[in-house]
Amino acid sequence: MGTPVILDCDPGHDDAIAILLAAADPAVDLLAITTVAGNQTLDKTTLNARRVCTVAGITGVPIAAGCAGPLSGPLRVAADVHGESGLDGPAFGPPTVEVVGEHAVELIHRVLATHPEPVTLVPTGPLTNIATLLGRYPGDAARIREIVLMGGSTGRGNVRPYAEFNILTDPEAAAAVLGGGVPVTFCGLNVTHQALVTPEVVARFTGLSELGRVCAELMTFFGATYRRIWGFPAPPLHDPVAVARVIDPDLVWCVEAYVEIELRGEHTRGATVVDLHSYLGRPANARVATTLDVPGFWDRVIAAVSRLSSR
Ligand code: BDR
Ligand code: CA
Repeated sequence: MGTPVILDCDPGHDDAIAILLAAADPAVDLLAITTVAGNQTLDKTTLNARRVCTVAGITGVPIAAGCAGPLSGPLRVAADVHGESGLDGPAFGPPTVEVVGEHAVELIHRVLATHPEPVTLVPTGPLTNIATLLGRYPGDAARIREIVLMGGSTGRGNVRPYAEFNILTDPEAAAAVLGGGVPVTFCGLNVTHQALVTPEVVARFTGLSELGRVCAELMTFFGATYRRIWGFPAPPLHDPVAVARVIDPDLVWCVEAYVEIELRGEHTRGATVVDLHSYLGRPANARVATTLDVPGFWDRVIAAVSRLSSR
């Protein structure tokens, strides 16, 4: 069996591929998929998780809906990036995979309590569910092996000059998770911008299967967004990088560093302040991803979609 993982996500084009990778890579034992408001409202991100599982034939993994907005303040969604549905591009039929009738935080708590080994949490959206879990059940920290998240950046942001979307959407939750007594790894923009979905990658998806063609359509929509908003020649596939780190640490190299979440800065709220050069002289409190094995990453993603295609 692979590493036991709960994927906490806000699908989202890149979350969708993260679901496929986590569900199909043999190095991961996917125990649950939980959803949170972020890229779109909770009803839409949850519907999208069901759509992805339906189209990919992922039927044995419980899906639970979680928090509908950040710990404080209003929800900001990313309709400009992911569309009104949160997963614009392909036409999805009605989903047949259902959600369980349990809040995501309760599902995570129950899985942590009953699984024989400590579980790795992979959050790829705002950290509201995970912060709520650690606030409500502080003892659960001991049942979590590590938290490997997509969020933050060692450099600039993507929604504010210094803030990345997942962290800015709920900075208080991010700070609570970082201080929650569990080892945290940040896979931020500095590494996820190395995972560019080039036309060659899109062609590899297209050549696989009907599911591969859905992935290609998702990436084509995402690519148009990234060209329009940021001038990227190809879109970065953020969220699967966090899953890849769990699959094989050699795919995503990390350094240890002291990290703070900026909560007050007038222009920098939501920034991850990553002290890569120990200017502050404080002990490291996190791992921070710096380098992606790009060919290895894409081979793993394509292999996962291929495996799901032949099920
Ligand atoms: C993150 O924000 C979302 O739009 C993506 O799904 C990813 O998790 C990138 O900043
Ligand atoms: Ca996401």
